[in-house]
Amino acid sequence: MKLWGGRFQKETEKAVEEFTASVRFDRRLHRCDILGSIAHCHMLARQGIIASEECQAIVRGLREIADEIAEGKFQWRIELEDVHMNIEARLKEKIGEVAGKLHTARSRNDQVALDMRLFARDAILAAIERLVTFQRTLLQMAEVNRDVTLPGYTHLQRAQPVLLAHHLLAYFEMFQRDVERFTAAYLRCDVLPLGSGALAGTTFPIDRNAVATELGFAQISRNSMDAVSDRDFVVEYIAAASITMMHLSRLAEEIVLWSSSEFGFVELDDAYSTGSSMMPQKKNPDIAELTRGKTGRVYGHLQAILTTLKGLPLTYNRDLQEDKEGFFDTVDTLDACLDICNRMLTTTRIRPRAMRAAAGEGLILATDVADYLVRRGLPFRQAHEVVGRLVAHCLTAGKDFTQLDLDEYRGFSSLFDEEIFEITVDTSVAARKGSGGTSPQAVRDALAASAGLIQRTLDWLAQRPEDANQVLPE
Ligand code: ARG
Repeated sequence: MKLWGGRFQKETEKAVEEFTASVRFDRRLHRCDILGSIAHCHMLARQGIIASEECQAIVRGLREIADEIAEGKFQWRIELEDVHMNIEARLKEKIGEVAGKLHTARSRNDQVALDMRLFARDAILAAIERLVTFQRTLLQMAEVNRDVTLPGYTHLQRAQPVLLAHHLLAYFEMFQRDVERFTAAYLRCDVLPLGSGALAGTTFPIDRNAVATELGFAQISRNSMDAVSDRDFVVEYIAAASITMMHLSRLAEEIVLWSSSEFGFVELDDAYSTGSSMMPQKKNPDIAELTRGKTGRVYGHLQAILTTLKGLPLTYNRDLQEDKEGFFDTVDTLDACLDICNRMLTTTRIRPRAMRAAAGEGLILATDVADYLVRRGLPFRQAHEVVGRLVAHCLTAGKDFTQLDLDEYRGFSSLFDEEIFEITVDTSVAARKGSGGTSPQAVRDALAASAGLIQRTLDWLAQRPEDANQVLPE
């Protein structure tokens, strides 16, 4: 007999059960579901809506079910549709009819909204923790390789020399914004929907704030119809995850390039690369490539959830059950990619000489030569023109700037003097002193500021109220 079977004269078709069931995937919410039920039950007893012995029986039953699930002993049944009814049916087997009191003043609609918010909160915190770990790795690499110079690129053409630390801190900044996005998403997710009933609220004298406190929610929802029907917090999670994946994918792309023979800027650790089944010489950056590849599927989940939501009239519609698989897959994908990329990066060997050599070759100092003329009074546009002709000369003569003598320089502008030979890769880098630039001093400041940002995130993570999540087994 279905928990909702009262008004039906026929059994549900097997095919319909198969089609509508979500238990295959939403069983993943079991911990959140039981936590929510325990808090709800405590409140019902405190409010005198159920007796305290009834509450004790229900809570004891729920805890035992949590253990059964944790030990893999729980029998999930497709004909019971979803995680909520599987757990409730088992509770009835264990404690009898009193189990039926648990669902007083509650609907699956506010129940599932609660489960999803509890799950999303944990997922957000986990993402932030992974991001901070990643930022630490970047910061450490930047500190260790403080003196390493490499070409900075635009259009993947050598543009101006930069410090490797500066390049790495660019990613640090991207991940910092990702942390901030997840933090903002957390604040909007951290709202208790329970007490909304099916859609209109409940006739029982419940205490929503008490449930919120027990579950560590900062707020309760202000509108029951909104609370049961929106999943924008799922959208926000997947959107933030998509942006993080986009950043990670760019870094992955650079690892692919840098580990190629053409660049040779880094060497991946054997344990974090893979071979070819045919070509014995190959050492492939599969982790980076798969991260780049998996970014697409996370974007797909974002598109899917937005599309699922866009046509739904208020309030709950069964379409909302489609909020789960893409969300869970996003959580798993993001977690796996951040973790494995962090390990890959930690074990990657930097090749400072190859980087330095690439930074010293060619005509990468052209901007500095132009700036030199500007400092001697030539308008920048004219200086650009002069150096452009100088570059053309170098290309025909097969030389770079360091190989020109003063007469050659002076053939292009009489403003050139001996000081032109002071322009080197190092002076070029050192000259970009302004805050946010690549000079060693500016980068030292940035390193210190970055450490401060990491600390700020750690403080935020530490100040969150303890929720009840420790009470149940994983
Ligand atoms: N499995 C359902 C979901 O995920 C739970 C809510 C069901 N509510 C309902 N009115 N049928 O959306």
